[in-house]
Amino acid sequence: MNLFKAMIVAAATAATVLANVQTTHPSKKAFSTLVENLGDEELDQAILGKSFFRIPWVEAPSATTARDGLGPLFNANTCTSCHPNNAYTNVFTSNNEVHRAMVVRLSIPSDNSVQHQTYERTMGFVPDVVYGTQLSINGTQNVPYEGKLNITYTPKEIVYPDGHKVVLRVPSYELIDLNYGDLPKDIRISVRKAPALVGLGWIEQLDDAAILANADAKDQNGDGIRGIPNFVYDIKKQKMVLGKYTYKASAPTLKQQIASAFHNDMSLTTTYFPHDNCTSTQQECLNAKKARDAIDVPDQRVDAIDFYLKNLKVPVSENKNPKGKVLFSQIGCASCHIPSFALKNNQKIEVFSDFLLHDMGEELSDGRSEFDATARHWRTTPLWGINSYKHTVGTQVEYLHDGRARSLEEAILWHGGEALKARNTFMNLSKEERNNLIEYLGEL
Ligand code: HEC
Ligand code: HEC
Repeated sequence: MNLFKAMIVAAATAATVLANVQTTHPSKKAFSTLVENLGDEELDQAILGKSFFRIPWVEAPSATTARDGLGPLFNANTCTSCHPNNAYTNVFTSNNEVHRAMVVRLSIPSDNSVQHQTYERTMGFVPDVVYGTQLSINGTQNVPYEGKLNITYTPKEIVYPDGHKVVLRVPSYELIDLNYGDLPKDIRISVRKAPALVGLGWIEQLDDAAILANADAKDQNGDGIRGIPNFVYDIKKQKMVLGKYTYKASAPTLKQQIASAFHNDMSLTTTYFPHDNCTSTQQECLNAKKARDAIDVPDQRVDAIDFYLKNLKVPVSENKNPKGKVLFSQIGCASCHIPSFALKNNQKIEVFSDFLLHDMGEELSDGRSEFDATARHWRTTPLWGINSYKHTVGTQVEYLHDGRARSLEEAILWHGGEALKARNTFMNLSKEERNNLIEYLGEL
């Protein structure tokens, strides 16, 4: 075989799964270990990014201008408060208080005015006039925090056809200690826990066409599963592009999502979001002392965090329950949690998502839309890395966008809407089959 022919054969062989330098074993460091093939300059950039991801930011003015500008209204002072070990936290702290990582997103219905249409086009929703886009649970000196979140659960019993019972906890959310007056009656509230930051570099490399190929808005193949893309506003390109990140796929790029975390969670300015997150009615916030530099986090720092998060290993499982694996496809889980995608370079990522939005039923609805995602729509959560949650999150792992599910079984039982058929098929499996499926999931 001549060299030319050999090259063609090599290109045509099946996609290879991510190589060892890019994968790791389940452990506490599973989401925070850098890939091994970085050059010296790249390593410096990744370490710089890691330090900005971990440092606590401080209020302005301060002696340490390199990391001031926090607030005036904010939720936490570092990325790692909400993403410890690059993963997430439990809903409650060990003192039984709602964890600061439980973020409350806010919006109001559009009145179709020009201003509201602009918000919808560029932000995907209309923020509350007084409280803005997200409830801030902290304020700097002299700036009252906005309010706090209270969570209560009511039990809901689910009985399987074979008599097995599971009690789900149904959340209800209340905003208390509101320091800027009552919220409007038609306020829309979405409570979200932080997601684990897994394989973000590989997700960015996914071809839009590969994602769009699975969209089936009209359910033309008749499997009950639609799947729609979210087209969202890219601030730098100033146009609509395919959204890949966050629970409603409302962030177009990792960089914009990082800038949005600085803006909403810490009120640190970037070139993406150059203003503090005060609304025009919040005088103390508007009058608070500003940092010396207008932009708290310059592009180089956003880029460094982006580089860091994109060059982390992904934990993989070596021991997948083969019976569970078959069931996962057979009962329809794989229709949305697509096991693998090929990247442009022909590498395969075992991600278990289609990065599309699905109607997940009324019980999971948060009553709030973002761009093309309606209240009942959620992006299929990638399942890779589940094997490491017990090492990174803690002994009690919680699932779904608001952490309401206390086990993988509970997470499945909450599936409704387009996923109701798969959920019901799961409930009709034998106990042994259900255990195999759950064991398989726990090792992904
Ligand atoms: C107050 C808690 C909190 C802080 C602080 C925080 N995050 Fe997050 N993060 C969240 C929540 C909640 C989401 C889900 C957002 C959504 O769906 O709208 C999220 C989502 C993300 C995502 C999207 C992941 C995905 O798979 O779609 C990235 C990336 C991210 N955060 C990075 C960061 C970075 C970088 C920082 C620091 C600059 C940070 N976060 C600070 C709570 C937080
Ligand atoms: C119609 C698409 C669809 C189907 C079918 C589906 N899922 Fe999901 N799955 C989702 C979406 C969307 C979410 C996120 C829901 C949320 O957070 O509210 C999710 C979340 C999950 C989670 C929680 C992950 C986490 O980290 O929070 C697990 C576990 C899961 N699915 C497993 C399964 C299993 C097992 C099946 C088959 C019985 C299944 N799914 C079928 C779309 C689907």
